Amino acid sequence: MKICCIGAGYVGGPTMAMIAKQCPDIPVHVVDLNQARIDAWNSDVLPIYEPGLDEVVNEARGRNLTFSTRVDEAIADSDMIFISVNTPTKTFGIGSGRAANLEYVEKCARQIASVSRGHKIVVEKSTLPVRTAEAVKRILFSVSTGATFDVLSNPEFLAEGTAIEDLLRPDRVLIGGESEQAISSLAGVYERWVPRNRILTTNLWSSELSKLTANAFLAQRVSSINAISALCEATGADVDEVARAIGTDSRIGPKFLKASVGFGGSCFQKDILNLVYLCEHFGLQEVAAYWEQVVTMNDYQKRRFAESIVRTLFSTVSDKRIAIWGWAFKKDTNDSRESAAIYVCRDLLRERARLHIYDPQVQKEQILADLELAMSADTGVVSQADRQLLENNVSVEKDCYATANEAHAVVVLTEWDEFKTVDYAKIYTSMLKPAFLFDGRNILDRRALPKLGFEFHAIGMS
Ligand SMILES: NC(=O)c1ccc[n+]([C@@H]2O[C@H](COP(=O)([O-])OP(=O)(O)OC[C@H]3O[C@@H](n4cnc5c(N)ncnc54)[C@H](O)[C@@H]3O)[C@@H](O)[C@H]2O)c1
Repeated sequence: MKICCIGAGYVGGPTMAMIAKQCPDIPVHVVDLNQARIDAWNSDVLPIYEPGLDEVVNEARGRNLTFSTRVDEAIADSDMIFISVNTPTKTFGIGSGRAANLEYVEKCARQIASVSRGHKIVVEKSTLPVRTAEAVKRILFSVSTGATFDVLSNPEFLAEGTAIEDLLRPDRVLIGGESEQAISSLAGVYERWVPRNRILTTNLWSSELSKLTANAFLAQRVSSINAISALCEATGADVDEVARAIGTDSRIGPKFLKASVGFGGSCFQKDILNLVYLCEHFGLQEVAAYWEQVVTMNDYQKRRFAESIVRTLFSTVSDKRIAIWGWAFKKDTNDSRESAAIYVCRDLLRERARLHIYDPQVQKEQILADLELAMSADTGVVSQADRQLLENNVSVEKDCYATANEAHAVVVLTEWDEFKTVDYAKIYTSMLKPAFLFDGRNILDRRALPKLGFEFHAIGMS
């Protein structure tokens, strides 16, 4: 058995590294078109920051784990081919802003079809709209080379920031397919370290739809508690207390009930919009509207947070220095795709604030690129006014102390652990007074910080 994976991203890289670690006898070849990304996978500084990833890669790389751009060679040489390419929201044509762009998946299927000889098992690892496997099969089965294929769906449920733990001890592995033999080949790989009762098998369509549904349910919980946070602020209730009170009900459970400035990441919004598009496609307008509201509520929460900062700072942030702590969409990752920080900062910039930003893992170039993209989202170009704001009002700092010097406010946008242990007395001394502190993740000590002198604001409490 030889395995290859097309796509060396946040999913392909860690997932294949774990398979290679657990199955030292199986050669695993991860390929990507992006030479810089592959070079990073072959270096000491991996392209992804993920706790525990370095150790897993170091153990397997050079033994049975290879990273390269030799896509054709990897496909030809493998018995099992994972497709783990990106499936972003379409930004053009039919379904723009909702449907998944399946261009990269289709290109992979065509490349596999043209290069393959003999029998191959093709595994969809990317998150795909239900019934994509039908299109993949049609492309593969149209070859005249004599090659034969089985197509499986094996969506990935890892969460960034805890990917290694999630891969090591998954709640479940899901395999959807038609061929018992192909299913048991893939199950056999996972069985090396995952208990058999955690490997679920379904038909192809249930597997594809389960991934979209899981993300929709998770995001829905965040939007539900965030909706309640707005009501808490209006009524004097405390959202953390409400979350604790309802989370102890075993039917509800305590996880994913943390109110915040909003969810981000490359998946939740994209997958819900995709679900909405699918529902509309099948004429299920009410179902589509139900799920779309999860995204609407998330946009509202981000906007509401930025607006409350402006309102609190005497209704103007123009020319005020604001320290921004955290850019990644969550802690323990360098991924900033769809991070709430981007949209809060875009709104503050357009109010002409001067932003001094710090994140422990996201690079300056990425922060500036994210802001530029957000500011060009409406028209496709950055206006001259926005360009000036980007050039004159944004600075990226090396630590959080540097951001706070003579700042009017500190705004926490990612729940990095290091923000809990900052010397807040020192921060307070260096700021202008009144010194405002906005906790967009509800991670800070809301009793101790006001005692130091801060005017403290968190989500869902007045
Ligand atoms: N990021 C997550 O936490 C997560 C979790 C579960 C599922 N997913 C899903 O997994 C898929 C991949 O997500 P990701 O975050 O790893 O994306 P990513 O953008 O980090 O990586 C995708 C990689 O695929 C490469 N690629 C695209 N087309 C290619 C081609 N034809 N040949 C070779 N390489 C190609 C790109 O260069 C890129 O490096 C998506 O469908 C996503 O929805 C992501």
